[in-house]
Amino acid sequence: MSFDPQALRRDFPIFANNPGLVYLDSAASAQKPAAVIDGVSNFYRTDYANIHRGVYRLSAKSTELYENARERVRKFLNAKHFGEIVFVRGATEGINLVAYSWGGAFLKPGDEVLLTELEHHANIVPWQILRDRIGFKIVAAPIDATGGLDLAKLEALISPRTKLVAVTQLANATGAMVPVETIARLAHAKGAKILVDGCQAAPRLAVDVQALDCDFYVFSGHKIYGPTGIGVLYAKKAILDAMPPFQGGGDMILNVTFEKTEFQEPPVRFEAGTPDISGAIGLAMALDYVDAIGRDAILAHEEALTGYGVDIVSRLPGVRLVGAGQHRLGILSLEVEGIHPHDVATLLDGHKVAVRAGHHCAQPLLDKLGLGATTRASFGVYNDERDIDAFAAAVKAAQRTFKTVTR
Ligand code: ALA
Repeated sequence: MSFDPQALRRDFPIFANNPGLVYLDSAASAQKPAAVIDGVSNFYRTDYANIHRGVYRLSAKSTELYENARERVRKFLNAKHFGEIVFVRGATEGINLVAYSWGGAFLKPGDEVLLTELEHHANIVPWQILRDRIGFKIVAAPIDATGGLDLAKLEALISPRTKLVAVTQLANATGAMVPVETIARLAHAKGAKILVDGCQAAPRLAVDVQALDCDFYVFSGHKIYGPTGIGVLYAKKAILDAMPPFQGGGDMILNVTFEKTEFQEPPVRFEAGTPDISGAIGLAMALDYVDAIGRDAILAHEEALTGYGVDIVSRLPGVRLVGAGQHRLGILSLEVEGIHPHDVATLLDGHKVAVRAGHHCAQPLLDKLGLGATTRASFGVYNDERDIDAFAAAVKAAQRTFKTVTR
């Protein structure tokens, strides 16, 4: 089957319920196919109970579906072991878990955590909070003049003091791709671990954590056509085994007395309390949906759309595309001369074009680029060239409204 966004769009009820919607904000959150919406609803209607606790059949069924979802994620990431998959609230919680648990146990004063200037706040702030407690140093590898990561400078910044390189695979604010496989090699050569923020990459390209050889990988369900409130932390088994709990509560324990607690093995050790059962099951359905389309096909589609978008946007007078280095995927960030991005986005909304405006939770990157905010269009499987044409036409209309460009 050839890739047909118009046909795929029919899988997403949001479009039938919002005629004319041009949804270009999948980097913030992707829309949900009926398979996920109905699947979660059916789970609540037919199989729902708490997991790991009940001896009755319904609880056993619910537990089986939840653990099947974990296995589904394992396959999706090509992780080696089922137990390497921890369900979390989202990529943000995944990074916080690594910071508090692994970082809290293994980072010491004098150590360094190497980030990049491309990071989302979720991969900066948890490290700063921990740094203020422990006293290690945070270093940020710079971008180059084209907006891509300066790999040579990153390599030079990895030293024996570097204990962790924490890096995005695809910058949410600009769409810049990062060669995480190479960075994993560089990090490991100096004895550092690597954490990959796969939030924007996982929905757009095939991820193989064994091939990447990353120590930690995080992504969010809601950006990959799944429910909100669910995400995944992958970590290598030996690393997870050595990590203390992140939160305490039910299910993550083997035995509790007032004197002490024995903890479960991973991954349950890191899933205190009743987890987002329906979220995990819905995420598995979303991954089924993505794999049914095919991740190679999705990547080819995102690449084609990105190329088309760059071409169209570059030809718009009074518009500047923010640089994303040599490899950009799925995301276009732009400045419209003389109009604040929030005004651009508001005017675009009048044309039913939904985009994000602001600093995209990447203020250090925007500061480096000398920008306070941008207008950002991002793609999903349901977008096609017509959406980009509609976006460009709406930008021109905004320019006419503000009289910055009159034709
Ligand atoms: N991190 C999401 C974004 O980039 C919310 O828009």
